[in-house]
Amino acid sequence: MTYQTINTQSATKGVLTITLNRPEAFNALNTLLLSEVADVLEQADKDSDIGAVVITGGPKVFAAGADIKEMAALDAVGVMNDDRPKHWRRIYQFSKPLIGAVNGYALGGGCELVMHCDIVIAGDSALFGQPEINLGIIPGAGGTQRLIRTVGKPLAMKMVLSGEMIDAQTALQANLVAEVVIPERTIERAHELAAKIASKPPIAVRLAKEALLKAFETDLESGLNLERKAFTLLAATEDRNEGIAAFMEKRKPEFKGR
Ligand code: CAA
Repeated sequence: MTYQTINTQSATKGVLTITLNRPEAFNALNTLLLSEVADVLEQADKDSDIGAVVITGGPKVFAAGADIKEMAALDAVGVMNDDRPKHWRRIYQFSKPLIGAVNGYALGGGCELVMHCDIVIAGDSALFGQPEINLGIIPGAGGTQRLIRTVGKPLAMKMVLSGEMIDAQTALQANLVAEVVIPERTIERAHELAAKIASKPPIAVRLAKEALLKAFETDLESGLNLERKAFTLLAATEDRNEGIAAFMEKRKPEFKGR
């Protein structure tokens, strides 16, 4: 399948890589790009050969946000009828791990895409920001809600109200990213992690992601209930028997996704 705004590649076993590819617009996330990313993730969800997806941009720009030129053409009714929230939801609903490899600018919707990733590896030149305030708007793809839950109130308020960017080290300290590496290592490190995760039992990986994400949106008791049910369900999988048997027999497990 060929796409107009992204490239896809599966060079590493079990890992699909999505590269945002609108360099002329600093990888601005127009609606076509969002829909193509969502399409690929939906297909990857159904493909048992794919265990994790890496999403990346270019060496100087991950993504500079929503496409301002496209957005400018929409009035309030246009924004209300926009398909973009639907595509963001499709991206959020991807059930396998999504790993961001970020170099350069991740701004506005680009920073929000970072927050849709489950793990983010940043090059030390990466810059993160929610500059929408400079355009007379606010983040529109979950930025106000996910940023404050991720980095806490002081930094989220500073970023959203002032539009100031933060660097990779600050993003690391604030838990927006999991690791900072030299920019040349960003994609390689994301692939290493993705390949490792893709080698794990896929049902356990999927339920672990679901349970962890639930903590963002629920009270402790409900989250613990979900965790317990997922834990119980896993006791019925062949991979759990295989994992425990392999440990006892001191050999490598062979997971089958059942
Ligand atoms: N949308 C459309 N085009 C964009 C863009 C965007 N978000 N960001 C950059 N571009 C385009 C520029 O228009 C320019 O194209 P032309 O050469 O055709 O004019 C090209 O990319 C390069 O941009 P600059 O010349 O501005 O490059 P720079 O190095 O001087 O600055 C930058 C880089 C700091 C990223 C700057 O481009 C910038 O501030 N971009 C906008 C960032 C922004 O405001 N993002 C939020 C968008 S709104 C949003 O995301 C809403 C939401 O939450 C859903």
